[in-house]
Amino acid sequence: MATNITFHEGAVGQDERASLLGQKGATVWLTGLSASGKSTIATALEQHLLHKRLHAYRLDGDNIRFGLNKDLGFDPTSRVENIRRIGEVSLLFSLSCTLTLTAFISPYQSDRDLARKLHESHNPPIPFIEVYVDAPLAVVEQRDPKGLYAKARKGEIKEFTGISAPYEAPAKPEVHIRTDETDVAGAVAQIVKYLEEQGLIPAESSA
Ligand code: ADX
Repeated sequence: MATNITFHEGAVGQDERASLLGQKGATVWLTGLSASGKSTIATALEQHLLHKRLHAYRLDGDNIRFGLNKDLGFDPTSRVENIRRIGEVSLLFSLSCTLTLTAFISPYQSDRDLARKLHESHNPPIPFIEVYVDAPLAVVEQRDPKGLYAKARKGEIKEFTGISAPYEAPAKPEVHIRTDETDVAGAVAQIVKYLEEQGLIPAESSA
């Protein structure tokens, strides 16, 4: 634990930063089973926002585990730490007025709630949008793009979410996407509509 440290405020406040940069930051937090479509939707949403000349950046579970979180595994303690770090990093990105898109299984409601609290108790509060990327286990197991469900069923991967480790579905997500019923464009449209309604991005007609 560090001691004797002091927090330094910047000279530019959050509202002034947003006004100078012409956009607000927010964290769009995608949660769902492996192969539910989180990364695919986050990638398409990032592309959509960038093409609207909005600054957006995607933090992806698999990718972050090659770098920042390469010291973490999939036991419960590691998953808690994985999400704690990403909660902090996404807040920093959002404070920089980036539309921050996170794609992590983030299986525990309490961890997602902590990330939300971090954003919402910040002064000023930073929007936190929980997006439930929902597909039934039978569907994601059928998709199994990386062959991980098959391995997990054979016991070759321990503590695999949905098979031998829990996934707690969000109680009250801001956006709920059924990826077994909606295509990628439809999923992106659902999130974009929410962001527009909240005044976080310009409405389509005025963009
Ligand atoms: S989280 O549970 O800690 O949020 P995260 O999103 O970072 O998980 O990583 C999930 C990805 O790691 C999956 O999409 C999959 O490719 C891979 N993976 C490897 N082992 C596991 C496991 N035991 N459980 C879930 N995903 C795993």
